[in-house]
Amino acid sequence: MARVYNFSAGPSMLPEEVLKEAADEMLDYKGTGMGVMEMSHRSKAFEEIIETAEADLRELMNIPDNYKVLFLQGGASQQFAAIPMNLMKNKVADYIVTGQWAKKAYEEAQKYGKVNKIATSEDKTFSYIPDCSDLPISEDADYVYICHNNTIYGTTFKKLPNTKGKILVADMSSDILSQPVNVEDYGLIYFGVQKNVGPAGVVVVIIREDLITDDVLEGTPTMLKYKTQADAKSLYNTPPAYGIYICGKVFKHLKKLGGLEKMKEINEKKAKILYDFLDSSKLFKGTVVPEDRSLMNVPFVTGDADLDAKFVKEATEAGFVNLKGHRTVGGMRASIYNAMPTEGVEKLVEFMKKFEAENA
Ligand SMILES: Cc1ncc(COP(=O)(O)O)c(C=O)c1O
Repeated sequence: MARVYNFSAGPSMLPEEVLKEAADEMLDYKGTGMGVMEMSHRSKAFEEIIETAEADLRELMNIPDNYKVLFLQGGASQQFAAIPMNLMKNKVADYIVTGQWAKKAYEEAQKYGKVNKIATSEDKTFSYIPDCSDLPISEDADYVYICHNNTIYGTTFKKLPNTKGKILVADMSSDILSQPVNVEDYGLIYFGVQKNVGPAGVVVVIIREDLITDDVLEGTPTMLKYKTQADAKSLYNTPPAYGIYICGKVFKHLKKLGGLEKMKEINEKKAKILYDFLDSSKLFKGTVVPEDRSLMNVPFVTGDADLDAKFVKEATEAGFVNLKGHRTVGGMRASIYNAMPTEGVEKLVEFMKKFEAENA
């Protein structure tokens, strides 16, 4: 078996231990005589799977009791609509646009109310996080929206915006569980799981209880109403059961590794190996201002599109795959999520050094 170092922005690597365990349980989950994919979501066995997954996520993230955890479908993108439909009581929201995903969310929200772009970094290809200490927050804003980690551009919020008392909503699809989060700073956190947690098909919403009401925009589909999902404990209809099962295994795995403080320590050390090299290299250059660099997504360029393509090709042949940058940025991007071993980054840097020497 030859596993590669997969630097994909998502779906991406999962812990090998989790994949092996799932393989062992594929035909017979704990003596039930069936696999989790074949199991009723109303069965005792699945009830235990989803309840344990939620309990482990609550423990990992230290989620207060007045927040609900919902395991939903539709990906992160469906939340671009669900959030305004559920939270826009005044039909006003403020968006901070720091990349393509925030921009998509901002555009979608416009279907439902008055949406203000209160800050953006589009002027410099989203290569930094704007100063959010004193923004023109709308007096009647129902919430302020951010994308906490910008997968495509490799920037991250090191300091949260001053929302002047308004509810903060965050897309954490690409950095969830990479470090501790103070959940109470947010009214709603959501993440598509396919980067740092599990297989595509599950999106998790962590929402403060008082924001779950029947007072949603007219025409909100039953399935998109958080109250429907919260009342039914994420089992209003058939949930993405196998995906939830794998997420649960990843939560257990992270607990075993030492929790989110430990993940932060590992991720900081791991990212530093790559950033230190980029800062010292004569050929490769990081594209993000140092103070806003992501721990998860590291975009870099040589400055020459042909050389970038040569690098991606040779890297792939050497077993470092999916390093091509997003089509809107070009160059390369190494996504180094929780499941990327430190050794993968060390070996990538060795390979980059060799490439630099050969192409000087
Ligand atoms: C930060 C962020 N938000 C949203 C999305 C969209 O996720 P989905 O494909 O689950 O809709 C992505 C996907 O890459 C992302 O990186």
